[in-house]
Amino acid sequence: MPSITVTGGRPLGGTVHVGGAKNSALKLMAAALLASGESVIHNVPEISDVDLMARVLEGLGARITREGHTVRIDASDITSVETPYELVAQMRASIVVLGPLVARFGRARVAMPGGCNIGSRKIDMHLHGLEHLGAEIAFEHGYIDALAPGGLSGSQVILDFPSVGATENLLMASVLARGTTVIDNAAREPEISDLVDMLISMGARISGRGSSTLEITGVDRLEPTEHTTIGDRIEAGTFLVAGALAGGPVTVTGFDPAHLEMLISKLRLAGCTLAIGNGEATVTRAGAIRPVDVATLPHPGFPTDMQAQFMGLMALAEGDSVITENVFESRFMFADEIKRMGADIEVEGHRALIRGVTSLQGAPVVCPDLRGGAALVLAGLVAEGETVVTDIYHIMRGYEDFTGKLAALGADIRLVGE
Ligand code: EPZ
Repeated sequence: MPSITVTGGRPLGGTVHVGGAKNSALKLMAAALLASGESVIHNVPEISDVDLMARVLEGLGARITREGHTVRIDASDITSVETPYELVAQMRASIVVLGPLVARFGRARVAMPGGCNIGSRKIDMHLHGLEHLGAEIAFEHGYIDALAPGGLSGSQVILDFPSVGATENLLMASVLARGTTVIDNAAREPEISDLVDMLISMGARISGRGSSTLEITGVDRLEPTEHTTIGDRIEAGTFLVAGALAGGPVTVTGFDPAHLEMLISKLRLAGCTLAIGNGEATVTRAGAIRPVDVATLPHPGFPTDMQAQFMGLMALAEGDSVITENVFESRFMFADEIKRMGADIEVEGHRALIRGVTSLQGAPVVCPDLRGGAALVLAGLVAEGETVVTDIYHIMRGYEDFTGKLAALGADIRLVGE
């Protein structure tokens, strides 16, 4: 079973370049379904989730060619509107093919996604929104059947919660609907704006980019396009926390620091110096790590995808801090693992109380999920002795060459076994 072995104590320094945003690229690939012809998407990370989305699209009849970080998707001859359970079960983000398929073909049949380690991951807002646009939703044998034989009609949709996936599915459903759709309480994550940019370049008519109210005027057809994915702010944030833990200076390039304002502000409060450049940020820490309270919220709040990494930093702070997880119902599994390394963390419901300790000890630990796994590797970078991280397939889903990039910064880290 492959694992990552890291021996703590080495200083980190240098420059690391992040790839395209996983949580944008997957949706940009689904958006290619909206137009007949070949769309080209650049800066797509080489990670297993992208491989899975390519399989989902090929299962629908799209032709995919990969050239490094460029993916070509020809959706001229879609032969199916069904996405099987074995693919959705592996990657719940497959659900974002629902909107484009119903929009262009009037039908989609997608397996119900399961929950995962961080929560039930419901999709009620996706489905209610599609019903508002005129789709009929039925469930049978574990599949969602969405039908709109006469096409979709624009409508006002107010989301109970600014769900990223629901916003994306409804955006892609509404661009070909008759009339105007307003999505209120929409998510404002940078990845949403990246999708809006691609859809507009395909001929969609969308206003309110970056705000919580998106207005879409449906058009008759969209054209394929060429688009470059924004840099991965969560991969960038992960390396900034690595630099904060080990002291740095670590420069992270290839992303927009404006997409990480809240994390940068919290790292400064934690005693780090952050120098912000054009498309890059440099983190240095000279003194002690100071305790900082954090509450995860939809963007521009503190990103839930940075919660575990930040908890690892707070584990070594001089004092106590509280982390509140407001986005997912059970996203503290990382805490159980880092406690095996000597962290002093008490979890109660949505709150974790972290009492800073002076050092962590290397130990065998198991990745609970994608971000928790990355955070365990970061903890191993500064723990005394050796940490062996298993179930690292979680990490491979969202980080391209994670161990190689950390090794290039000076970490004593090895990927063991394939
Ligand atoms: C996206 O998930 C990201 N995944 C997640 O990143 C990220 O944590 C999340 O957005 C929040 O930023 C991808 O983009 C592939 P949500 P998504 O819909 O779209 C509840 C990572 O580590 N909800 O905003 O699933 C839901 O259960 C991953 O890269 C409903 O109740 O997130 C959750 O508690 C992890 N009903 C909350 O909303 C719905 O219909 C936020 O979910 C939809 C969501």
